[in-house]
Amino acid sequence: MKAVVYTEYGTPDVLHTAEIEKPAVKENEILVRVRATSVNFGDLMARNFKAVTPSRFNMIGMLWLAARVMMGWNRPRAQVLGSEFSGVVAEVGAQVTKFKPGDAVFGYVGSTFGAYAEFLCLPENGAVALKPDHLSFEEAAAIPYGAIMAYNLLKLVEIQPGDQVLINGASGAIGSAAVQLAKLRGAVVTGVCSTGRMEAVRALGADHVVDYTREDFTQRGQRYDLILDILRKGSPAKFRGALTPKGVLLYASFKQRELLEMLRTRRSSGQRVICKLVPENQETLNAVRDLIAAGKLKVGLDRRFTLEQAAEAHRYAESGQKKGAVVLTLPQAAPSGAA
Ligand SMILES: NC(=O)c1ccc[n+]([C@@H]2O[C@H](COP(=O)([O-])OP(=O)(O)OC[C@H]3O[C@@H](n4cnc5c(N)ncnc54)[C@H](OP(=O)(O)O)[C@@H]3O)[C@@H](O)[C@H]2O)c1
Repeated sequence: MKAVVYTEYGTPDVLHTAEIEKPAVKENEILVRVRATSVNFGDLMARNFKAVTPSRFNMIGMLWLAARVMMGWNRPRAQVLGSEFSGVVAEVGAQVTKFKPGDAVFGYVGSTFGAYAEFLCLPENGAVALKPDHLSFEEAAAIPYGAIMAYNLLKLVEIQPGDQVLINGASGAIGSAAVQLAKLRGAVVTGVCSTGRMEAVRALGADHVVDYTREDFTQRGQRYDLILDILRKGSPAKFRGALTPKGVLLYASFKQRELLEMLRTRRSSGQRVICKLVPENQETLNAVRDLIAAGKLKVGLDRRFTLEQAAEAHRYAESGQKKGAVVLTLPQAAPSGAA
């Protein structure tokens, strides 16, 4: 089958198209013919992981070490990137009961990757669900990761209607889903992003949008009941100054400093800090799917590239110009009997 592979870490130029062996389904697995996949934070980081030093890694050092060992110290172990996918089930293992050949599905395989290819195998109990009918394959490949993470992160906190919620990093995969999920819970949402992505964040329903290149949101005089910080950008002391007396600072990315703050505020009846790694699971993807099907969660797509243009797509995603999700598309299967 055709795939985009990389055998060394580096710039987008390390990505190239190759023929590799099609995966074989195990008893509990489904084989998906991939129709679209995305270029997300994980793909960009894994492609160039050798350059990601512990200080550049925005999670605790122990996780950097685990990731470096798992991904391969000098060379990538998994040679096919792509963690989000949409496609059509081509084959199912003998024990599979939830899916059948022909089902249109979407999902997230996390750090096992493998979706930059014509076919992908994954367990039927993984983060995979039937694709909402009205969603294109491109849209469906751009939402699972961000929506699953945002849903599971926001499950950790209470949001009351009228609460002031700020998402620091509102234009990215997790942040853009978080804006919409917080709005669904009745919050007044402020999204923080760069100039070029402000319109996109407004279109997701944010009540206020702050451009981090021009303004420091902590100096606006507004207090927030919840600040969700996606990339660990900014000073924790300033963040706490922008919280209400019982406000919560929720970190998607965290190091020792934030963990210590969490321990310190664990039993506090005032401000609290929360850091947590959240799971990627089918249950959450099903909940996300229902929200999408009900028109309550949408995807902001930017540019589409073909699978063969993966290097170009990575360059664009890293250019600082992207306005929404970047996807790679693959052609539909030829009708049986066609040459
Ligand atoms: N806790 C967990 O379980 C968990 C799970 C998955 C991922 N993560 C973490 O989540 C992070 C990736 O999130 P993502 O996939 O949503 O990333 P992403 O798609 O790359 O989005 C990053 C966001 O941060 C914004 N940003 C960049 N610089 C900023 C600054 N100085 N101030 C404020 N915002 C800024 C970007 O805005 P512009 O694009 O407009 O510049 C964008 O909105 C990683 O650190 C990863 O480790 C945590």
